[in-house]
Amino acid sequence: MSKKAFIFDLDGVIVDTAKYHFLAWQKIAKSLNINFTHEDNELLKGVSRVRSLDIILGLGNVQATQEQKDQWLIQKNEDYLSYLVDMDESEVLPGVLKILKLLKDKNQGIALGSASKNARPILEKTGVLSYFDVIVDGNDVSNAKPDPEVFLKAAQLLNIDPKNSIVFEDSVAGIQAANIAEMVSVGIGEETILHEADHIFKDFTQIETSFIEELIG
Ligand code: BG6
Ligand code: MG
Repeated sequence: MSKKAFIFDLDGVIVDTAKYHFLAWQKIAKSLNINFTHEDNELLKGVSRVRSLDIILGLGNVQATQEQKDQWLIQKNEDYLSYLVDMDESEVLPGVLKILKLLKDKNQGIALGSASKNARPILEKTGVLSYFDVIVDGNDVSNAKPDPEVFLKAAQLLNIDPKNSIVFEDSVAGIQAANIAEMVSVGIGEETILHEADHIFKDFTQIETSFIEELIG
C-alpha cells in the first residue's frame, strides 16, 4: 500500500463555517449599502480575507482608504469569531470523521490546506486537530488560491509528490489550485459549480470506502 497525501480545505469541507463568513461579510456589506447575495458569496469561497473585502467593495463600486479597509477587516473577523465561540464537535460536517479515521488507519498523509488564518483554533474546538500531520493555513502562504502554493507546501511538508496528492475542496478557486498543482481534485458540493474537479460529491457521506482505497492504490 502506497502513502498518498490527502489535503483538506477547512471552511465548507471539514466544518460548516462558510455560512458564518457569509453572515459576517453581509453585515459589512449592509453597512456600506452594498447588495451582497449568496451567489456573490461563491466568489469569496477559498479567497483570502483581504481579497474578499476588495471583491465586495468592487460589487458596490465603493472606493476606500487603506485605513477604512483595515477597520472593516478587523470588524469582519471579530464578528466572524463571535459565531465560533460556542463551536464544538457537532460542527464537523457529516461523514468527515469516518474518512479521517479511515485515512489514519491506512497510514496516509493528512494535511490541512486552508486560506483561513483562524484554522488552528477551529480544528482544536471541533476536536479534529490530532488527525492532521501537517497544517498549512493563511498564515503560511503569500499566494492565495487559485495559486497552488498552499497545496504544494502541504505535500512538500508531508514529503509526498504532488502527483500522489489528493485535494478535497468546496471552492472553485481551490479546485483550480489543485488542478494547477497536478493533484487529484475532489469537489465537495454542487456539480454545476465545481465541474472542473476530477471527482465531485455532494458531501462526505457520499464517499465510499472503496473510492478512498482506489485513490490510495
Ligand atoms: C477560506 C474561506 O477558507 O478562508 C474564505 O473559504 C475566507 O471565505 C478565507 O475568507 C480566509 O479566512 P479567515 O478566517 O482568515 O478570514
Ligand atoms: Mg472552503
